[in-house]
Amino acid sequence: MNGTICAIPGDGIGHEVIPAAVAVLQHVAPDLRVEWAEGGYETWRRTGDALPERTLRLAREADATLFGAVSSPLQPTPGYQSAILLLRRTLDLYACVRPVRGLAVSGQRSAVSNGQHDTVGHSPLPRTGEGSGVRAVPTDLIIVRENTEGLYGGGEESDGERAVARRVITRAASTRIARLAFDMARRLGRRRVTIVHKATVLPQTDGLFREAAFAVARDYPEIVADEALVDSAAMRLAGRPESFDVIVTTNLFGDILSDIAVIHGGGLGLAPSANIGEAAAVFEPVHGSAPDIAGRGVANPLASILAGAMLLDHLGRHAEAITVRDAVAATLAGPVRTPDLGGAATTKEVAEAISYQLSAISFCSPTDSTDKKQTFQELTADS
Ligand code: NAI
Ligand code: MG
Repeated sequence: MNGTICAIPGDGIGHEVIPAAVAVLQHVAPDLRVEWAEGGYETWRRTGDALPERTLRLAREADATLFGAVSSPLQPTPGYQSAILLLRRTLDLYACVRPVRGLAVSGQRSAVSNGQHDTVGHSPLPRTGEGSGVRAVPTDLIIVRENTEGLYGGGEESDGERAVARRVITRAASTRIARLAFDMARRLGRRRVTIVHKATVLPQTDGLFREAAFAVARDYPEIVADEALVDSAAMRLAGRPESFDVIVTTNLFGDILSDIAVIHGGGLGLAPSANIGEAAAVFEPVHGSAPDIAGRGVANPLASILAGAMLLDHLGRHAEAITVRDAVAATLAGPVRTPDLGGAATTKEVAEAISYQLSAISFCSPTDSTDKKQTFQELTADS
């Protein structure tokens, strides 16, 4: 597989965090070719096109795309469409994959840490000892969200007094997303896939999703397939994230559950995600363009850097992906942190700390943190 990536900073802090992430990618994989492209609200204001033809072509032709974030106006704005939604739709990126791992942040106590779990289980992050000020949490799950239909794909109508949203679920899309989730679970050595729905009150739409997902599950006898209603899943996810392994669900439920899960991974500043299709893949931080801090140079680049690690896995470059995650873990164990993680460092200082760790890792012998369970190895090998 060759290595051309398309980098789209987008709006706001995208212009701060994506260059930092691309610098990391170029550090560990100097042969990667990077094509920069524009898109987003500012691009639309300037050119009338949120996703210019050139950007779409580069994203389609690249082996993978790294995307920052785009701003969307709160009021309906005639002619404007979100560049990331356009990308997902045009490239048919039908799966949104969000891994959530309890990242150990020096001096920060996780919301779910209770002292009973001192290690990160299968995480490639360093184990942390008593008194180190580093507390790890047991969360280690992956949320697989259907990205093309549900309440986001059916359209809305309103006469001003009554508004209706259509929720479209198809057997084809449900089967496709369940197949990706179970395939991924198999490849990554995961033991359980939980099908999350609300078929009790949505027997037609979620009944169909549930039925299609359990039909797929029959082809994976070694993986436990169970189910949870979305409301109880939300409560469990908030309080006992370690009770989940892989979750597969519909579009809106996946959107909400993913944001709950992000809390256990150290917050938005540390949360990466992947949008996967048959012929293209776009990796991005979960966060948005953060207009409240944009331009101040204090955005946390780690979510984008971890999205870059997922991208490397997608390219089959697992060793480099592990190196990047190790550098992030080592940096988090130290004092250099942006304000969202309780520090006072700038984006640039965190990027420099990562670069220092990368140099240290390549100078020392490779670490033994090669736990394949945590890589996105072959995630899309058949795609
Ligand atoms: P947001 O994720 O941009 O910001 C939420 C809060 O988290 C803000 O206080 C922000 O300062 C902070 N934050 C986010 N990322 C951070 C980082 N890397 N480092 C430090 N702090 C960080 O979400 P919000 O405010 O709801 O939306 C802002 C804009 O972003 C909106 O126009 C929204 O439509 C857009 N958005 C775009 C997304 C995308 O492109 N995929 C996803 C979510 C929102
Ligand atoms: Mg969201």
